Amino acid sequence: MLGNSEILHVETVDSTNSLVKKLIQENSQRARDGLVVVADAQTAGRGRLTGRTWISPPKAGLLCSIAIPTHRYPCPGTQPLPLVVGIILARTIESLCTKQNLSVQVELKWPNDLYVQGRKLSGILIETEGDYSIIGIGINLNTEEFPPELRHKATSLKILTGRDWDSSQVLAELLRMMDETLHHWQQTSGPAWDSLLGEYRRRDFLKGKKLSLLVGSQATQKPVSVMAQGIADDGALMVCDPEGVSSKIYSGEISLD
Ligand code: BTN
Repeated sequence: MLGNSEILHVETVDSTNSLVKKLIQENSQRARDGLVVVADAQTAGRGRLTGRTWISPPKAGLLCSIAIPTHRYPCPGTQPLPLVVGIILARTIESLCTKQNLSVQVELKWPNDLYVQGRKLSGILIETEGDYSIIGIGINLNTEEFPPELRHKATSLKILTGRDWDSSQVLAELLRMMDETLHHWQQTSGPAWDSLLGEYRRRDFLKGKKLSLLVGSQATQKPVSVMAQGIADDGALMVCDPEGVSSKIYSGEISLD
């Protein structure tokens, strides 16, 4: 149970994902049974795409990494963990808001950025180290103002709801939701995936939008203009190019035109 994992709280760290990786590499007992690292601030928070950072000033958000031993939570078949984690986070935020009689509707930008009212609220970085998946999560909680380059792209729960949010309460709900959803997904893999996929499609932020897509190694990348068509049964992003040719995308960088 993730709810029973040790929670290691640090004031400042370069990156919670990097700290978890280090503990796994050192084969520490802490990492062995699943581990949650939470930080008040990061000096080198990493984003999903190469070279991207996650701005992490003190106490502005939830910054955490959860190490999941693969043997305890194997992905059923080829169903993709990143999409399921996106749904878990969306459910967590909506459940916390509902408990406060607030209404927030979370959409998912493939594979797993959380968007509310067209702005990014949260991001997820999943890495593997040895027998573990490291799920790194950043949620903007109490940020009132973002730097100019993010002002029209990012949002926080404080901006959306006018309230302050306690990161330890958000983390507790996240761990509860993660336990519940991962357990259900693995026990009833076929039906559970169908229903998760249905939920992902209802939350799909990109469907019908024009995108710029960068695929391939950095050296050969050229942006291609495409239209998002939805999510395939295996979790891939389906796109259509200007010649009407459809394809499935499994990785790549996407920006809205
Ligand atoms: C993204 O949107 O590109 C993913 C951002 C993930 C940020 C979180 S903050 C906690 C964890 N530690 C990191 O260095 N990154 C993730």
